[in-house]
Amino acid sequence: MSTDTSTPTSPAEGQAAANTRKVFIKTYGCQMNVYDSVRMGDALANEGYVPTEEMEEADLILLNTCHIREKAAEKVYSALGRLRDMKQARHAVGRELMVGVTGCVAQAEGEEILRRAPVVDVVIGPQTYHRLPDALRRARDGQRVIDTDYAVEDKFEYLPVTDKARIRSRGVTSFLTVQEGCDKFCTFCVVPYTRGSEVSRPVHQILNEARQLVEGGVREITLLGQNVNAWRAEGPDGREWSLGDLLYQLAEIPGLARLRYTTSHPRDMDDRLIEAHRDLRSLMPYLHLPVQSGSDRILKSMNRRHTAADYLLLIDRIRQVRPDIALSGDFIVGFPGETDRDFEDTLRIVEQVNYAQAFSFKYSIRPGTPGADMADQVPEDVKAQRLERLQALLLKQQAEFAKSCVGKVIDLLLEKPGRNEGQVIGRSPWLQSVNVDAKTSQIGDIIPVRIIGTGPNSLFAEPAQDLVGT
Ligand code: SAH
Ligand code: SF4
Ligand code: F3S
Repeated sequence: MSTDTSTPTSPAEGQAAANTRKVFIKTYGCQMNVYDSVRMGDALANEGYVPTEEMEEADLILLNTCHIREKAAEKVYSALGRLRDMKQARHAVGRELMVGVTGCVAQAEGEEILRRAPVVDVVIGPQTYHRLPDALRRARDGQRVIDTDYAVEDKFEYLPVTDKARIRSRGVTSFLTVQEGCDKFCTFCVVPYTRGSEVSRPVHQILNEARQLVEGGVREITLLGQNVNAWRAEGPDGREWSLGDLLYQLAEIPGLARLRYTTSHPRDMDDRLIEAHRDLRSLMPYLHLPVQSGSDRILKSMNRRHTAADYLLLIDRIRQVRPDIALSGDFIVGFPGETDRDFEDTLRIVEQVNYAQAFSFKYSIRPGTPGADMADQVPEDVKAQRLERLQALLLKQQAEFAKSCVGKVIDLLLEKPGRNEGQVIGRSPWLQSVNVDAKTSQIGDIIPVRIIGTGPNSLFAEPAQDLVGT
């Protein structure tokens, strides 16, 4: 797929080239793209690029893209249209503007992007972003570079070690990708095609990165993977470790107060992981466990490889060991062949589980996936009506969950300054944003607070120093 055969740049080589250019990275899609954008920023920092929040100031604009639903790719092409005008205006005054497309649209569309969008200088897939600095050098020499190989080398080995000041500037919570790709091939989904097959990062790499983050002031780490609970690797004891084992090990790192992981597949929730929820105080009581549909017929046709009853049983087992766990999920309405009855089954499973939070989408045809060729595609207006009903139910549950928190004393990780002077925004164990009166010097602390009210997307709390947090 790639026309690029160059070898990756080593960090040392990268550091030698010193100049100052500004880079603006626009991130679309999931948390893995957020993580990738950070790591691309690190790779570019070693080339002398400094980050900017202002697109107008940038010498390099990267769109780190998502291909999961139709609109996502179209958004990228319309953004590229706007960048074309910007580049022309720049050239008129003799100023450079480089444009790169990275991420899942880059992987899926490849050459098509260069064809459709002449403004683009480089196209780099998610597995090769360690080669970005080299691609940019070549682009500056006038080439249009495309590199969407599934690289044989481990990109993480080539990415520069992040320095403490840079970690500190990013705040007290961090993502850490431990697993990439997917072998599950749900019939609606492009991820196995854009991110390739499942790969787990080795234990030592993950532990080193986690320690570095903590030394840089990070208090909470969210482990990431398209199928994070399919992570498997050899542990230091020679045994094959699963995600549960990894969490037990990470929980030993002094100063690392909170652990989370996302996104999980119900098929990969093994006993060890459930035990981790029982035993580890630092593993937060929040689980994103998408079910997609409540109809066995649709689940089968989606190739999810479990039934609604399997899912409910699993939720019961998890709630038994961690009764305060908040559940989150993803749903698709209007998958091909979905009848009113199938949809009612989805509403029923939502009622049975009672979610604290959830995402729901209209099925979007993805060319090249089996779902695209299935008969009985559901009309748009039916999808829209179903989505509306489902979202009303999910929002009601979310509001009820928020209300049930009022009066509770909880541990709050203070994250960033609030909108008003003297206020700080923190995260509850259940991932809610909480506003509280506190000093910005306390950011990074975990303090007990009492929840006193709810807003549309956040909670309000008062400090509860006199009480012990839950
Ligand atoms: N690996 C995760 C999901 C990753 S994609 C899992 O297995 O659960 C994130 C979410 O996007 C999915 O859970 C699904 O709800 C939604 N999604 C994926 N493909 C879609 C499509 N073709 N149309 C609509 N929603 C989709
Ligand atoms: Fe997509 Fe299914 Fe893989 Fe999740 S498990 S990334 S939905 S193919
Ligand atoms: Fe989108 Fe790629 Fe993530 S398709 S959801 S950015 S893995």
